[in-house]
Amino acid sequence: MSSPVFVPASQCEILFTTDQIADRVVAIGRQITEEYKGQSIVLVGVLKGAAIFLADLARAIEVDNTFDFVAVSSYGKGKTTTGAVKLIKDLDVPIEGKHVILVEDILDTGLTLSYLRKLMLQHKPATLKIATCLDKPERRLVPIEADYVCFKIPNKFVIGYGMDYAEKYRNVPDIRLFPEDAGH
Ligand code: PRP
Repeated sequence: MSSPVFVPASQCEILFTTDQIADRVVAIGRQITEEYKGQSIVLVGVLKGAAIFLADLARAIEVDNTFDFVAVSSYGKGKTTTGAVKLIKDLDVPIEGKHVILVEDILDTGLTLSYLRKLMLQHKPATLKIATCLDKPERRLVPIEADYVCFKIPNKFVIGYGMDYAEKYRNVPDIRLFPEDAGH
C-alpha cells in the first residue's frame, strides 16, 4: 500500500472560508434557539470529525444545552465495505425524555447516521434531530436527511473544520478541497 501524500493545506483550494462557515453556524444556532425556546437540548457529537462543528454550534445556541459524544468504528470506505457500523463509545449521560440533536461533520452515504439514529431512538429521547455541517446528497446509500445543514456539497473529498485525511488537517480552520490525485 502506498503511504498517504500530505499536501500542505495552503495548497488545497478553499471551498468555504471561516467567515462563510461562521455565518451558517450562527444562522443554524439562531434557528435552533428559536425552535427550542424555553427547553434544553443535548447535543450528541460523533467523534472525531464533529468535535469542531459541535464546539461552535453549542456556542451559537442560546438555549440551555449540554453535550456528549459517541464514537463509531469506521466501516471502511473502500470498495469492499460491508456498511456495518459499530458503536465504540456510548453516551455518558442518559437521554431518555431529552431533546437530542445528533451533530455530524458530514452526511455522506448515511450509514453512520441511520445506525446512530436507530440507536438513539432506543433510548427514548423526547425528540431527535440531526445537524450536519456538510451534506453530500449524491453519495447517499440509505434514505436519511438532516434537519439542519450548513452546506450541501458535490461528491468531492474535503478536509478541515474537523474533517481529516489520514487523521491530518482536522485543525485547518476553513473547509478545503483535497486534490483528487493526492492518494485518497
Ligand atoms: C465520517 C463522518 C461521519 C461519517 C459519514 O467519519 O464524521 O461520521 O464519516 O459518512 P457516512 O454518511 O458515509 O456514514 P469518519 O469515519 O471519517 O471518522 P471521523 O469522524 O473520525 O473522521
